[in-house]
Amino acid sequence: MKTVPYEQLDSAQKKLLTEAEKIMQRAYNPYSNFYVGAALLTPDNHIILGSNVENAAYGSTICAERAAITRANAAGYRIFTKLAIIGRGRDFDTEDVSGPCGACRQVLHEFRQIAEKDLEIIISTTRKDKIVVTTIDELLPLAFGPKDMHVNVKKYQKVL
Ligand code: THU
Repeated sequence: MKTVPYEQLDSAQKKLLTEAEKIMQRAYNPYSNFYVGAALLTPDNHIILGSNVENAAYGSTICAERAAITRANAAGYRIFTKLAIIGRGRDFDTEDVSGPCGACRQVLHEFRQIAEKDLEIIISTTRKDKIVVTTIDELLPLAFGPKDMHVNVKKYQKVL
């Protein structure tokens, strides 16, 4: 896990963060007033976006990261090279980056195993004064996944 100054990100990382920040505005967040945006990059350079969608039954809330994953699957993508995440409160910028929650890490790990390749994750404050570049393997070591269930991951790399 490294902390990287904004200027040192490459153009793909900067573009992903910009897109994540734009989609963050679409959050449906009447309960927490917290905005999260996520942008997934596919191997053919498609960007798939998600923002958090809350629910009056709080536990039914969908995080931005999982919203992006389900959108990607519906669009025919299960393999991702990078993910950018950005978040802020309605009335405040966060001092530190907002890493993906445990449930999102688990879902990201699912598709990391399907892809048979680690996923780079770029997490930024909206001020861009703290940016962490990490991977799902680093964020969720010793994770349980499709391989533990003897799933033929290659079979699921392409969406029918
Ligand atoms: N949230 C995300 O979208 N992603 C995360 O990984 C952490 C939390 C959202 C869910 C909820 O709408 C709000 O942030 C506060 O928890």
